[in-house]
Amino acid sequence: MNFRTGLILRRRILPDPAAPVVTSRDDLDTVRAETKAVYNRQAAAWNAQRPLSLHERPCLEEFAAKLPRGGHVLDLGCGSGAPIGGWFLEQGYRLTGLDYAPAMIELAKSQYKEGEWLVGDMRDLNLCGRYDGVISWDGFFHLSREEQRAFFATLAPLMVPGAPLLLTVGPEDGEVTGTVASEQVYHASLSPDEYRARLDAAGFSDVRITPHGEETAGRTLLTAVRT
Ligand SMILES: C[S@@+](CC[C@H](N)C(=O)[O-])C[C@H]1O[C@@H](n2cnc3c(N)ncnc32)[C@H](O)[C@@H]1O
Repeated sequence: MNFRTGLILRRRILPDPAAPVVTSRDDLDTVRAETKAVYNRQAAAWNAQRPLSLHERPCLEEFAAKLPRGGHVLDLGCGSGAPIGGWFLEQGYRLTGLDYAPAMIELAKSQYKEGEWLVGDMRDLNLCGRYDGVISWDGFFHLSREEQRAFFATLAPLMVPGAPLLLTVGPEDGEVTGTVASEQVYHASLSPDEYRARLDAAGFSDVRITPHGEETAGRTLLTAVRT
């Protein structure tokens, strides 16, 4: 494991220099196993501190430009629904938000009556819909590298041809921890080359990795289109 890479990833994904550095494989696995419980426990704290200014708007608009009018968007790791799920609803799209933390889904339901909000795990997508677009903003990067590798083949049949995909990822291959309300959570990323190769093999085209910057709301963005 490359901890230098890990530190770089942590700075770029979640700027939290105060976060303790995990120093063993076992510790990292423990943090990974606990991440769901942390989000469930800290859902209210998360919701209270999640910025609502929609600095992600340019990225969302670029994604939405590829959607049909009123299309059905799947938001994986939707959290409390604010502000991203809410933005899609306001723009007139159908929205299914899925999150494995029941407390997050309760918050989303209480904030947005119109959306469909499901408790579920994106590692085990058990959905029968077909979606016009799929987004996972700061959700997908909680999957381990092995889980990320398996994810694309599961996702592809759920998307209509031409549907856009938008994920936030890390800038390079690695595993790191971040914090949510002082509790540690797990993050991982594949390398840009591996994302390109895996998406290509799973039936996606136009794969682009855009390095973090102001125009990407500080995130490394992965965008692709279902062929
Ligand atoms: C950093 S929050 C982001 C929430 C929302 N996307 C946003 O931008 O505000 C990450 C969310 O992903 C969810 N999550 C992490 N791993 C997940 C998984 N395997 N399946 C479903 N949800 C997951 C967490 O419960 C949490 O609500």
